[in-house]
Amino acid sequence: METHLLFSIPVFESEVDVSDEIVEYSKSLLSDRTLNDNAFISKEMNVLSLEEFKELKEQIGKNILQFLCDVCKVETNIQVEITSSWVNIHKKGDWAQSHKHMNSVLSGVVYLKVPENSGDIVFESPIELFGPTLIFNYQSNNILNRGEYSFTPKKNKLYLFPSHLKHSVLQNLSNDDRISLAFNCYLRTQVISEGKTFNL
Ligand SMILES: [Fe+2]
Repeated sequence: METHLLFSIPVFESEVDVSDEIVEYSKSLLSDRTLNDNAFISKEMNVLSLEEFKELKEQIGKNILQFLCDVCKVETNIQVEITSSWVNIHKKGDWAQSHKHMNSVLSGVVYLKVPENSGDIVFESPIELFGPTLIFNYQSNNILNRGEYSFTPKKNKLYLFPSHLKHSVLQNLSNDDRISLAFNCYLRTQVISEGKTFNL
């Protein structure tokens, strides 16, 4: 007897070095309240293009290639373009609603400052085991039947995930700020369809 696990969705977890200077610089960036009034977001939406983030951007770039080429087996002739990047500051009580990252292929987040109990990131399964209308009681949760999966972030952690994968952030219950840097990427490559080559 054998069960074949046919498809799955990856979330890549790694670590980068985040200097104290980067944390302080992130705090100093001007920010706006989000439209949902549940977090602060930097006015600058390309923070990784700033000189202060140059080294962090390089570390992120290496991890992106590792994820795409080593894990997902995308051909190595790709170019990754980080199309947007921003800082999120969650004050006490802040959170993020369920969302996906539009007009993007690959997204990620780096944690710059993470107090205890400042909010897990919760990914939602796009796969409904027996369809969208049935909710069974399961004996236990596993890769087949779980509807969501949470990570408790720590400083320096990096997560990469397909942009279509929905996720949310739980409320910051600590008295201190939680700071993260999120980004979206697009891939430049050649694809072949119907025997013809196209540039993406
Ligand atoms: Fe997000």
